[in-house]
Amino acid sequence: MIKAAALAQADYLTAKPEVVRKELGQYFTGSSIADYMASMLEPVSAPTVRILDAGAGAGILTIAAAMRYLALGNNCVHAVLYEIDQDTLSHLELNMRRVAKAFKEQGGSFTFEIRHEDFVLARPDRKEERFHASSINPPYFKYSSKTSPYASATPDLYKGNPNIYASFMAVVAACMTDDGQMIVIVPRSFTNGLYFKGFRRYLNRAMSLEKIHIFRARNQVFRESAVLQENIICSYRKAQQGTSISISTSTGHHDLSQTETNHYPARQLIDTTNAHEIIRIPETVEDAKILAGVEHWPSSFQDNGYFISTGPVVEHRTREFITAPDNIKNSIPLLRMHNIKTLKTEWTGTNKKDARFLLLNCHEKHTSNNLPYVILKRFSSKDEKRRLVAGVHNPEVIKGEIIALENHLNYIGHNDGPLKQDEIYGLALLFNSTLIDKYFRCISGNTQVNATEIRLLKLPARDTIRKIGKTYKSNSSFPQEQIDMIIERFLEI
Ligand SMILES: C[S@@+](CC[C@H](N)C(=O)[O-])C[C@H]1O[C@@H](n2cnc3c(N)ncnc32)[C@H](O)[C@@H]1O
Repeated sequence: MIKAAALAQADYLTAKPEVVRKELGQYFTGSSIADYMASMLEPVSAPTVRILDAGAGAGILTIAAAMRYLALGNNCVHAVLYEIDQDTLSHLELNMRRVAKAFKEQGGSFTFEIRHEDFVLARPDRKEERFHASSINPPYFKYSSKTSPYASATPDLYKGNPNIYASFMAVVAACMTDDGQMIVIVPRSFTNGLYFKGFRRYLNRAMSLEKIHIFRARNQVFRESAVLQENIICSYRKAQQGTSISISTSTGHHDLSQTETNHYPARQLIDTTNAHEIIRIPETVEDAKILAGVEHWPSSFQDNGYFISTGPVVEHRTREFITAPDNIKNSIPLLRMHNIKTLKTEWTGTNKKDARFLLLNCHEKHTSNNLPYVILKRFSSKDEKRRLVAGVHNPEVIKGEIIALENHLNYIGHNDGPLKQDEIYGLALLFNSTLIDKYFRCISGNTQVNATEIRLLKLPARDTIRKIGKTYKSNSSFPQEQIDMIIERFLEI
């Protein structure tokens, strides 16, 4: 049955151009993932199980969910399926008929209703429609907060309009009966970050997060569609947040039968100590131990009085200011990503990516005071070992009143004035440690390092940071093992 559905889906995928599928956020789920998601569904006590499929495609998730219920002894199922794309409807209809036949053969009953409508705008929750289960792979794309109808479709549920997948999750959550289950495969991006703050607040109150499944390899899940998002599967229940959340991991879809599962206290994963309510995801037991240990540190980035700002030089908007490295007149070095190395900042003028910044009229808008800073790269490539790379900028080395920092960098200083050498190196050693890198990965799955998440980091007290910094001897090279040894010596986890 499921194999047949996958076939109808495969025919469709080859017939439809990638650009059109992208516009509809159309990335179909493979049968192993659909079955895995369905395996999280538990028996329902009602005589008829009502399933909601939002963005049904060829219906693979409903097929897997319905067959799961049949296996669990719930042999009366009704499915409501929303799909906006006319071209998929015949496949969907055909596949649903096949499910009905399979149910009939086993003495059960499967009925369905396909709605050729926009799910988010239809808002079935407002019509008091309720469902026991929903297994969804919603479309994902950002929409315009000014012109898109989605921007004003869900303000009663949450504030902010980040991405269509959040709108789908919010409406599905609102459609669940008490104790109803929502299983979703979605990008990890909603678990942290400013854009999803309002959505997280809503979701954390509306639903209880029971389980998260993470895929270690990003490119494994929707391979045929070249999706490089980091996707997770979440199992939610319409109830007050429970006390425990389980996390399972696999490399991709091929090893879903050998997942490793661990259980953690919910308060360790959902951080309710501030308004951001970030959902932290430790990949291993060791990461969870780090997360729990760091939470006991006595201070935080903000409590220590540090600030973090993003480099103001946006190169495509300041082309006329950017000049060759040998054009020294009326210019200063421009610090770019490649100039930032572990514990140092290197601008020699000899690297082919080196550039200078001309001090033309209005340059003040793009330059910063030349003070000692820890400079963090904002981006890492997905395969790079480290997320956090922190260089130290010393104004005695790159001299002058002002400095030009490119937009792919974040710089850290102190609100009360210039940081002293010990504290600068203490902070940079911490940010370059494996410990903080792992802690940060629990907080953010993104290869982008956002200032918002750095601001929320727990940190040791300033005094401890200074002691760590005292161990730094200039001109000596500091391999990773040595950095980690120093951090371990001062900060026990
Ligand atoms: C990521 S695909 C998933 C399809 C299917 N559920 C699966 O798992 O293979 C999302 C589906 O949602 C449909 N879709 C996109 N926007 C929609 C909307 N506003 N309302 C209903 N369906 C929509 C797309 O056409 C696509 O079939």
